[in-house]
Amino acid sequence: MKIKKTLCSRIKNMNFNNISFGNHYSDHMFCSEFKNGKWKNSMIKPFGDIMLSPISPVFHYGQAVFEGMKAYKDKKNHVFLFRPKENFNRINQSAIRLEMPKIPEYIFMEGLQRLIDIDRNWIPKKYGESLYIRPFLIAKNGILSAKPAKDYMFMIVSTPAGSYYKNPLKVKIEEIYSRSAPGGVGFTKAAGNYASSFYPTRLAHEKGYDQILWTDSSTHTKIEESGTMNVFFWIKNKLITPKANDNILNGITCKSIISIAKKEGIVVEERELNVSEIIEGIREGELKEAFGCGTAVVINFFEIISYRNKNFFLPKLPIHQRLSIKLKKKLLDIQHNLSKDDFGWRFRLKKYF
Ligand SMILES: Cc1ncc(COP(=O)(O)O)c(C=O)c1O
Repeated sequence: MKIKKTLCSRIKNMNFNNISFGNHYSDHMFCSEFKNGKWKNSMIKPFGDIMLSPISPVFHYGQAVFEGMKAYKDKKNHVFLFRPKENFNRINQSAIRLEMPKIPEYIFMEGLQRLIDIDRNWIPKKYGESLYIRPFLIAKNGILSAKPAKDYMFMIVSTPAGSYYKNPLKVKIEEIYSRSAPGGVGFTKAAGNYASSFYPTRLAHEKGYDQILWTDSSTHTKIEESGTMNVFFWIKNKLITPKANDNILNGITCKSIISIAKKEGIVVEERELNVSEIIEGIREGELKEAFGCGTAVVINFFEIISYRNKNFFLPKLPIHQRLSIKLKKKLLDIQHNLSKDDFGWRFRLKKYF
């Protein structure tokens, strides 16, 4: 792999005492090209603009998929990726569904490790902070007809990440718009899934909510997910999460929380979850907590769930009684190498240089 290092690092512009999400990008990026049926020209180069033909299918037909993952530091500055093979598998599932070529494992893993190694100084050191990594695959060149491209580009960029949401969330149960539908691409990280959620999310913001709680497209009675998070509800001492299906992204954080919770002896149910069960749970005082989880947010609890223009306030539990906080700590401790990794999720980054 070719490596061209930057001559002028931008890290001095980065304030590690006040990290917001996505405002600064690390010095380098990884690129690999798919041309004439073969992957070639893998390289690391300084982060910067790329040149694409204006008729590239990524612009016209949204042939683009991506991933989100993180690198963490421990107290000795060792670097760990969290379950990277899961992201590798998922980007290829997304690629297959969007008629794009699969990325070979050696390109994904080698590109990822070398990039993060070269930019390891960009990984924040504080507990809960990390380097957010964005691998993505786009369709380039092609001709201006609605067909898959012949050429593709796989890239990885990264950005230091503090906390995504600073406060508990106000979410609105959506009954008009849909994020996905059976047989569609909701289970993938297709770029278009996100573009189509921006408008209904803005409408929710205008009404004072942080995020939408999506429901199934045919009946709007079953809870699916929220923003870029899977969701959990703690009702009658059971932790319930909508079972992943082709409408729902099979979240790596969600899977990890299910495993941690089960190990803690908590009863976890992955199943269909009706809106009525949540509203009744709140009314009867049987719903103790609801929270969203994902790579970017880790875990964030909800304070309000709005349904049909009525705000339902969730119990104001003290922090030490919150299951969400307990599970978040367990997960972060594993990610930062502060606890035993019983599940084999940490992936220690080797030093190349
Ligand atoms: C729509 C959606 N749901 C759920 C998640 C959470 O998935 P993960 O835990 O793998 O980040 C994400 C983020 O990737 C997402 O975009």
